[in-house]
Amino acid sequence: MRFLGAWCSWKGALVALLLSNSANAITLDISDEQSIKDAASISAYAMMTYYKGNETGHIPGAFASKWWEGSALFMALLQYWHFTGDTTYNDELRVGLEWQAGDGDYMPSNYSSYLGNDDQMFWGLAAITAAELAFADASSGYSWLSLAQGVFNTQIKRWDTTTCSGGMRWQIWWWESGYEMKNSIANGGLFQLAARLYRYTGTELYGEWARKIWDWSTTTPLLSNSTWNVADSTQMDDGCTSQGNTQWSYNYGTYLMGAAYMYNITNGTEQTAWETRVNGLLTRTLNKFAPASNGGILEEIVCEPSEQCNNNEVLFKGLVSSWLSFTAMLVPSTWDTILPKLQTSASAAALSCTGHDNNTCGVRWYLSKYDGYMTMEQEISATNVFVANLIAFEKSAPVTSTTGGNSTSDVTAGDNDTAATATETSSTITSGSRAGAGILTVVLVSGWVAIMGWVVCGG
Ligand SMILES: *[C@@H]1O[C@H](CO)[C@@H](O)[C@H](O)[C@H]1NC(C)=O
Ligand SMILES: *[C@@H]1O[C@H](CO)[C@@H](O)[C@H](O)[C@H]1NC(C)=O
Ligand SMILES: *[C@@H]1O[C@H](CO)[C@@H](O)[C@H](O)[C@H]1NC(C)=O
Ligand SMILES: *[C@@H]1O[C@H](CO)[C@@H](O)[C@H](O)[C@H]1NC(C)=O
Ligand SMILES: *[C@@H]1O[C@H](CO)[C@@H](O)[C@H](O)[C@H]1NC(C)=O
Ligand SMILES: *[C@@H]1O[C@H](CO)[C@@H](O)[C@H](O)[C@H]1NC(C)=O
Repeated sequence: MRFLGAWCSWKGALVALLLSNSANAITLDISDEQSIKDAASISAYAMMTYYKGNETGHIPGAFASKWWEGSALFMALLQYWHFTGDTTYNDELRVGLEWQAGDGDYMPSNYSSYLGNDDQMFWGLAAITAAELAFADASSGYSWLSLAQGVFNTQIKRWDTTTCSGGMRWQIWWWESGYEMKNSIANGGLFQLAARLYRYTGTELYGEWARKIWDWSTTTPLLSNSTWNVADSTQMDDGCTSQGNTQWSYNYGTYLMGAAYMYNITNGTEQTAWETRVNGLLTRTLNKFAPASNGGILEEIVCEPSEQCNNNEVLFKGLVSSWLSFTAMLVPSTWDTILPKLQTSASAAALSCTGHDNNTCGVRWYLSKYDGYMTMEQEISATNVFVANLIAFEKSAPVTSTTGGNSTSDVTAGDNDTAATATETSSTITSGSRAGAGILTVVLVSGWVAIMGWVVCGG
């Protein structure tokens, strides 16, 4: 996932100048279940106005320039349906989750040649979310559990030991810039997926991979098990000694979420170790991204104050809201710490939803007023933080195969998809061809951004 940064920012600022705020607001009483459901219904409706996948001439689940975001939309919809009971969008959800499945591993050929490991991984998270929330398997097509297994199976084949003694690269293919990097979202993402498969199935293989990815991460500058810093990336050409330490909330959130699942399914001294990790990451995550100085409201600290968040980055605190709510359920001792932050964040988010006389939500919740931007990503994040607060009423934790989950398992899912695995490794490429590929990527991506900017940011 990449691009579409400053372009949307300046365009949003222009919109802000041209339009003034209105009095129309989402009224949210955070202690009232129905009020939260109503708020979520409004933002979910708004986010679905950007989804054309069920209309003639459009492709289910596809956002051509930002393919991974379909998974973010569907995760929000799954949680929305589960915690509110509103089935309005379930057909689109089921059709879209199937349509993008490719050969059962979310590597559909239309997009597979320029995907990152993180892009595919996020669709795997959507699939395991469907299984855990007991969204019934489609009557034909792949089961949700098998799709998560397909992503896992294809990704572990890309575990890269050519440098840094392991780790997932950011990108899948040698021609993508970012192939020479190992980063937290690709590794923390697969860690989370493995931990969730472990809890759902009880199969030891998934637990072994979750432990392995966690342990490897702590040997690199990506994850510190003493300060609980989570960096964004590290470079392979210096043997993963460099640290790209930009602070993104979802990098913290994905390791936290995986650790919460590992805590929940382990016992004895291992469980104690995971609890320490959950608490370490949770404290640092909240101190950084929902500090008391900010009223305890979630904020993407790197880009929100300067109004430089791109579409991806606007989604991060929504993802983190969801992951915090699951953590609170899976690690009961964190409940009293997490819930107040979800409440202050949702209340502030609701106050931001005063745009355009139709409850359009803003980017910066901490302002507690509308800030002029209008994208699907804002509505997804608002939906996520509203729905996250419904755990206070529903208490319906993610299920497993022994506690009500019946999604069909396929332990070999994805194994026949030879196209999903890189055929060339870095050792077979010269640095010249790599540099050339990088330049080509930049040229293509720049042109694409210029064209898509208007379309994606809204007219
Ligand atoms: C809200 O109003 C704006 C401006 O008219 C429009 O572009 C947008 O689609 C509307 N959103 C919803 C959810 O109706
Ligand atoms: C697409 O789904 C939306 C929301 O469920 C619905 O309002 C709309 O009628 C659907 N469009 C088509 C063409 O089915
Ligand atoms: C791939 O593209 C073709 C042609 O546009 C389309 O018919 C098909 O639905 C697409 N598949 C996916 C998975 O997006
Ligand atoms: C699996 O569970 C779902 C959701 O509870 C239910 O709708 C479906 O009928 C179940 N399927 C089978 C085969 O039991
Ligand atoms: C932990 O769980 C494992 C597997 O379920 C079991 O064999 C073991 O006895 C348990 N250990 C403790 C300390 O409860
Ligand atoms: C695991 O999660 C479930 C569901 O929220 C919870 O009831 C249970 O107490 C958790 N297990 C542990 C060991 O905390």
